Amino acid sequence: MKLKIEKLLSSLVKVSLATVLLFLLGIAGCKPDKNIEPDPNSNDPDSLYVGTPYSLQRPSPSNRFRRFPDSTFTVEGIRLGRMLFWDPIVSADSTLSCGSCHKPEFAFSDEGKQFSMNLSGPTKRNTPSLQNSIWMRQLFWDGRQPSLEAASHDALLDEQHFNAAQAVSKIEKRTDYVPLFKKAFGRPGTITEDKIFRAIGMFMRTMISTNSNYDKSLRGLYTLSDAEQRGLAIFSTEKGDCFHCHTDGPYLTFTNNEFLNNALDSAATLADVKDIGLGKVTGSTDDYGKFKVPSVRNLSYTYPYMRDGRFETLEQVVNFYSDSLRYSPNISPNMKKINQGGLHLTAQEKSDLIAFLKTLDDASFVSDTAFSNPFK
Ligand code: HEC
Ligand code: HEC
Repeated sequence: MKLKIEKLLSSLVKVSLATVLLFLLGIAGCKPDKNIEPDPNSNDPDSLYVGTPYSLQRPSPSNRFRRFPDSTFTVEGIRLGRMLFWDPIVSADSTLSCGSCHKPEFAFSDEGKQFSMNLSGPTKRNTPSLQNSIWMRQLFWDGRQPSLEAASHDALLDEQHFNAAQAVSKIEKRTDYVPLFKKAFGRPGTITEDKIFRAIGMFMRTMISTNSNYDKSLRGLYTLSDAEQRGLAIFSTEKGDCFHCHTDGPYLTFTNNEFLNNALDSAATLADVKDIGLGKVTGSTDDYGKFKVPSVRNLSYTYPYMRDGRFETLEQVVNFYSDSLRYSPNISPNMKKINQGGLHLTAQEKSDLIAFLKTLDDASFVSDTAFSNPFK
């Protein structure tokens, strides 16, 4: 009973927070984009073209999934973004696209690979999912980019060994792209770096996962099994304490969007922290060894796990939280069992927790043809 009241109270707080957020998003979304105003006096056949507003599907406060119109997105912008995401023209030797590493069937991670291959060898970190990135505030494992547009720019330079100016001049030579830019961004249809990243950003913002069994259970369309229910109780209480960091939040993202240390590596002093993560970005020793809290959605597709893909299975992840926490100076205070080395779950509790995590798999997201390679 107590739990029920707590749950009710916390969902009330969530509802009001979410309402404020949705209201703000609504205001931001209502700005008309002057770029897509038609020009009746032009001879250009595309000049009368007006972008088609795209309705993004977001979970609403009542967890019923409604569609919200948002005029900052257009169907044409998303279509262009999808092409640019998948077109290998956007890399130095025309072999690598964003979709070469961020594959929809793997929730936009890379096909079970610990590291992906870029043009000079393996990537430094594990390729993360791009799901629900519309709600991410800082991108990359170390938080080095503040927006999806900046992250796309960074990915182009770092993973595809290509710069935006070179990309513009290659795309300019492709006559099929000019009308697409015009339809997405209006006259005169010039191809600019800014438009490339805005279009890719629009496409990535549509990668919203809201249809897992857990989501369905909130809508009364699925009943959690006993094991899944017990796993949820471990996840969302002090017993497992996962919920402090992998928070469901107003949009059920299952990340609190923070950068924290979850006791993966041992380090006696700050000087011993090997991969300083967020510390490299902020320059603050308080941030040494802190990394993005990833979402725990779609884990069946995003293996291996952690920034360096060190764990291949969920059993290994859960064994780590249960029995192998390691001390270092900036451990999050939410790793409460650090002094005991972990949560020390029983075999039953571990398998229940994994059963719950798997209810966050969204099979319709990974098979959604709206994201697939448009050139195939
Ligand atoms: C060679 C593989 C590869 C290619 C190609 C690639 N990425 Fe990535 N992407 C990665 C890796 C690895 C990371 C994590 C890097 C890090 O955190 O240091 C990443 C991270 C990201 C992130 C941050 C996600 C998060 O959760 O913070 C975004 C956004 C992103 N990539 C978008 C793109 C876009 C857009 C393109 C195409 C322009 C692209 N990527 C091309 C491998 C790749
Ligand atoms: C103090 C915050 C915190 C708590 C509590 C926490 N995690 Fe994490 N979790 C993280 C961070 C940070 C990472 C990424 C660490 C890295 O790669 O450096 C992570 C990574 C993961 C991953 C890997 C996801 C991926 O895509 O690579 C899984 C799965 C996971 N946690 C599950 C859990 C479970 C289950 C619990 C509860 C038993 C839990 N976490 C508790 C912060 C936390």
